[in-house]
Amino acid sequence: MNITLFGATGKTGPYLIEEGLKRGHEITVFARQSSRFDYKNVRIVRGDFTDAIALHEAINGADAVLSALGPTQFPHPKGEPIAHATQALIDIMAQAQVRRLIAVSTGTAADPDDRYDMKIRLPAILIKYLMPSIYQDIVTLAQVIRQSDRDWTMVRAGFLTNRSNSKGINVGVYGKTRHQLALSRLDLAKFMFDQIESDSYLAKAPGISSC
Ligand SMILES: NC(=O)c1ccc[n+]([C@@H]2O[C@H](COP(=O)([O-])OP(=O)(O)OC[C@H]3O[C@@H](n4cnc5c(N)ncnc54)[C@H](OP(=O)(O)O)[C@@H]3O)[C@@H](O)[C@H]2O)c1
Repeated sequence: MNITLFGATGKTGPYLIEEGLKRGHEITVFARQSSRFDYKNVRIVRGDFTDAIALHEAINGADAVLSALGPTQFPHPKGEPIAHATQALIDIMAQAQVRRLIAVSTGTAADPDDRYDMKIRLPAILIKYLMPSIYQDIVTLAQVIRQSDRDWTMVRAGFLTNRSNSKGINVGVYGKTRHQLALSRLDLAKFMFDQIESDSYLAKAPGISSC
């Protein structure tokens, strides 16, 4: 399959790329002009999120789009750049008739079915008051994904690690599922690729954590 990755220039990128290549997919990575990124055996399309032609080049013909876009800079700029970038790629997905979107979010983006889980709610409150521009972007990003007419799955993570072995994952809304805080990027990448041909979490936002 042809899979287009956004946010793969960040720390989760190598895990996503390696998982995709291992499964035999053709991988396209959209990289911002400013991003120092190079990787073997993937197609790289460079552009900015205001560049509809570059976005179309990256997305057209894809069987699915996976996004690990998230706040990198601190302080995070105001104006919700991650939500806007995601809206831009969703608009181009619609134009190119690409339906499947699997995007990473965080426990800070609450789901209506969540119940109280202190290890998720406490960081969310701290982010809300200490890093309001990040908080606002995360909340708006979740709205953008939920309101899209794509076949979306929003994968919510607590705290990402680079643990290299997988002992399995916990999946489900917070407060109703036995979760750890940490999720390895390896488990995240596997879960995202598993969703490409699964409709188990269509229009859902499961929390996931490593066992
Ligand atoms: N780190 C954690 O503990 C944690 C916890 C929960 C959820 N998450 C989520 O997991 C995902 C992956 O995390 P990570 O640690 O791998 O992320 P990361 O290393 O910070 O990478 C973030 C990606 O987003 C892109 N990006 C950042 N700011 C952008 C902007 N203004 N416009 C467009 N693109 C932008 C970066 O592109 P450039 O290379 O061009 O900067 C990069 O590809 C993110 O969605 C993050 O929110 C992370």
